[in-house]
Amino acid sequence: MRAVTPSAVARYPWTIRVLHWLLALLLAVQVVLGLVAEYGAAQLSAMVLPLHFQLGMVILVLTALRLCLRLVLPMPAADPAEPPGLRLARSAAHGLLYLLVLALPVSGHVIWVWMGADRTLFGALKVPALFVPPEDETGRAVAWYVHVYGAWILLGLVGLHILAAVLRQRARRDGFITQRMGFKRLQREERGS
Ligand code: HEM
Ligand code: HEM
Repeated sequence: MRAVTPSAVARYPWTIRVLHWLLALLLAVQVVLGLVAEYGAAQLSAMVLPLHFQLGMVILVLTALRLCLRLVLPMPAADPAEPPGLRLARSAAHGLLYLLVLALPVSGHVIWVWMGADRTLFGALKVPALFVPPEDETGRAVAWYVHVYGAWILLGLVGLHILAAVLRQRARRDGFITQRMGFKRLQREERGS
């Protein structure tokens, strides 16, 4: 019989689940676009960069929405059996994931304004520059380091995040990923709180 622990019964609200998977997909596409823009042939890079800018802004808006929803909606309770150190590590990893997903579009925007590139998002909608690039290009260099290293750190952290979720699911045999983030209808005793 499948073990059902108190932690396994609590599921993220459907809006958070939809945004979690949608953003995971968009981020995967965005990293590929960024790498093609950086390392692809000049013509291909010029084609891909505006898409990278547009998708980055969509990711920024959706992440901000996800964070707002997270603040107002009830989230799954912490598992009382989870060691405090592990709970702290999990919260820190989730916080860092959010921070990176926000830092990438923001640093990308700084680079974009410095490049003097077209900030038209869709139709007549234009992203405001918010600053005038000064002569001194230190800010551009800092934004560049944040963007490039941030993208690689995000990739590494997402890898660890997936590994942690899979290991937890395998160790406890409670269908953890589906329980927390899935869409399959839960059995009555699993719905719990
Ligand atoms: C770009 C990819 C991903 C990012 C940025 C990401 C980010 C996050 C974040 C920030 C949370 C915390 C919940 C929240 O506040 O919304 C979370 C939870 C979770 N994610 Fe992901 N995730 C990604 C991909 C995945 C994948 C591929 C899996 C499947 C193995 C997965 C499984 C989970 C699970 C099971 C939870 C619940 C964890 C818990 O409650 O402790 N995630 N994810
Ligand atoms: C979450 C959103 C974003 C992610 C995950 C992301 C990811 C990446 C990656 C992986 C690269 C290649 C880095 C490397 O050289 O290793 C890159 C490059 C770049 N990104 Fe982003 N990015 C995001 C948002 C943005 C936004 C919103 C903009 C512009 C407003 C932007 C502008 C750029 C530029 C200009 C480059 C350099 C391309 C070149 O040199 O041709 N990025 N990005």
